Amino acid sequence: MPSCERVLYGADYNPDQWLHDPAVLLEDVELMKKVHATSASVGIFSWTALEPSPGVYTFDWLDETMDRFAKNGLVVFLATPSGSKPMWMSELYPEIRRVNAHGQREPSGGRHNHCPTSPVYRQAVARINRELAKRYAKHPALALWHIGNELNGECHCPLCKNAFHDWLKQRYGSLEELNRAWWAGFWNHTFTDWSQIPTIDKSIDGLCVDWLRFMNDQHVSFLETEMAPLREITPQVPCTTNMMGTNRGTNYWKWSKTLDCISNDIYPLPDDRADTWRKSLGSDFTHSLMRGFAGGNPWMIMECSPSSVNWSKINKLKRPGVHLQEVMQAVANGADVVHYFQWRKGLGGFEKFHGAVVDHEGGTEGRVFKECAEVGRVLRSLSPVVGIAPARAPVALVYDWEARWALDSSAGPKAGTYGDRYTEACVENFRALRSAGVEVDLVAVDADFSPYRVVVTPALYSLSTETARRLADFASAGGTWVATYLTGYVDTNNRCWRGGFPGPCLREVFGFWNEEVDYLFDDEKVLVQGAFSGLDLLTEATDIVEHIHAEGATTLATVESEFYAGSPIILRNDWGMGQTCYIGARLAEEGYVAFYQHLAKELDLPRLSLPRGVVRKTRLGADGPVEFLFNYNRHEVALDLGEDTFVRVADGKPCRGKITLRPYDSLLKGVRVSDAAAAAKPVSHPTRHELQPS
Ligand code: GAL
Repeated sequence: MPSCERVLYGADYNPDQWLHDPAVLLEDVELMKKVHATSASVGIFSWTALEPSPGVYTFDWLDETMDRFAKNGLVVFLATPSGSKPMWMSELYPEIRRVNAHGQREPSGGRHNHCPTSPVYRQAVARINRELAKRYAKHPALALWHIGNELNGECHCPLCKNAFHDWLKQRYGSLEELNRAWWAGFWNHTFTDWSQIPTIDKSIDGLCVDWLRFMNDQHVSFLETEMAPLREITPQVPCTTNMMGTNRGTNYWKWSKTLDCISNDIYPLPDDRADTWRKSLGSDFTHSLMRGFAGGNPWMIMECSPSSVNWSKINKLKRPGVHLQEVMQAVANGADVVHYFQWRKGLGGFEKFHGAVVDHEGGTEGRVFKECAEVGRVLRSLSPVVGIAPARAPVALVYDWEARWALDSSAGPKAGTYGDRYTEACVENFRALRSAGVEVDLVAVDADFSPYRVVVTPALYSLSTETARRLADFASAGGTWVATYLTGYVDTNNRCWRGGFPGPCLREVFGFWNEEVDYLFDDEKVLVQGAFSGLDLLTEATDIVEHIHAEGATTLATVESEFYAGSPIILRNDWGMGQTCYIGARLAEEGYVAFYQHLAKELDLPRLSLPRGVVRKTRLGADGPVEFLFNYNRHEVALDLGEDTFVRVADGKPCRGKITLRPYDSLLKGVRVSDAAAAAKPVSHPTRHELQPS
């Protein structure tokens, strides 16, 4: 992490787009100070501004920016410019342009469209990165390397295809082995020469998963190519790249092994009509994932919008209080850095209407600018938490790209709402655990499970014998392993396990046999009836219902409709000194919550009992715990705080005893109340900024 004593606060900043108007650049720094910014990410798409023709460098504007920042006590997250390649480079070396899935080489438009394999592009990136590192190695403003931007996507060019073949040779050693792994006799797909292997064939599901693995590895090795000169010349400066949450093609568990620190871009879309707490718990899920990538340590928000975005179908404004809450929510979840996209709205281009700290109007009187200043002040009061790892949760939930890719690539299981049934299963279980008042860490499938009381593996569709054994051993050593529908269908090559689901050998561990699986119509539901913890549970299941036969497990709930009525759907099995539990259908929310409440009670897990959508989080701080209390709802909620005294961030007033939480309320405890109160004073920016039309 960039070293700092307070939460770093800033934005993506594009001074190179304003060189024609130097007054704006001077003013930017003054405005940054007004919102209590500490930092900015500079140069993300600036390659042509840095190198207008091959080998000709124009660093003057960046020198000036770096100097101006240092002079004003601000630091720079210096970007490598690989997120968008110069036009001249695309012309000179067409091979650096991506080839799409239809085999067409793409033009040089848009961005994020380089071939990750091209040696020419890799060399060019290493060259410009070396120049940047040499030039700014000793600059006091340099705090962090921001590698490229949201690296992702696929390229199907001949270079990538050859590299894929080499990758496959490494993995399988021989074509016989590959054909076996891919069940290639199906539809006559047996390969007799490596060169025959395509990059896409949806009918070969083993190939699909391997292609995703390969592309992910190419991105990781591209990142390493980028970082090599930076690490050589500036070993003291950490490297990060901005991730995109649960983006499909990027197995960030692998990326995090090579990065120095973790950063994420997150854009929860404002929707004031729906159950807002669901969306907020969805953000908690992503934040917990980041904390997982960071090994439980603090991490960064590299991008969020201070208000609306411009790329959604409906680009709503964030309602008052929402943004402040989202930022504090991230800090409560371990973020030590909060940056925006974007500092100032550009006058042209695709993102001219995207939310920004500084609007086209350019002044300090707008609602968003004032809110950003307020956020900056609140973040200052949260300095005691900086650099301190949040406490570990009692429950670990596994998020596994391999299982997701295998499920995605298999025809049969019904597609999820967004084609991502796997992530839906993970988020729903996370949300239910949190609604039951239980804290959750997100971990990789190869994590050390021993510090946890419970490990939850939603829809772990593909798994190796080794993973199955590790999880079973965790249970037999006294832990509780909770698995759900779609567990253990295929191996790591996406070939079905023989001997009955769940495989491999998990039939005994879970004490049941999953004979078949029913995929329901969107509007279909089956009834589920359970009786546990003195609770009579009547709920529904949708989408996926497994037809299960107990083989030693205790039935906690059964299906009550359909031809498989009476068959078990929630089961529990003793395993060694611990137990396994299985939820064989996609339950309605209340079903999951009831199950996890039951489990938490049975295991005596630490948990909080709060109204729906009210969240209390504790982060360890230098002077003791810092507590956050949020109302994620758009409506008021009554709450009894007892003897606890919090400060309402919106007005700086102390709250204790019986209180009414306002919509999107955020309360703090354990930071200096005077700081928090000061934070809440209305922002006074009486001077109207007068920018000449450019
Ligand atoms: C991100 C991207 C930024 C900006 C932002 C707009 O995905 O990294 O450059 O485009 O979206 O929301």
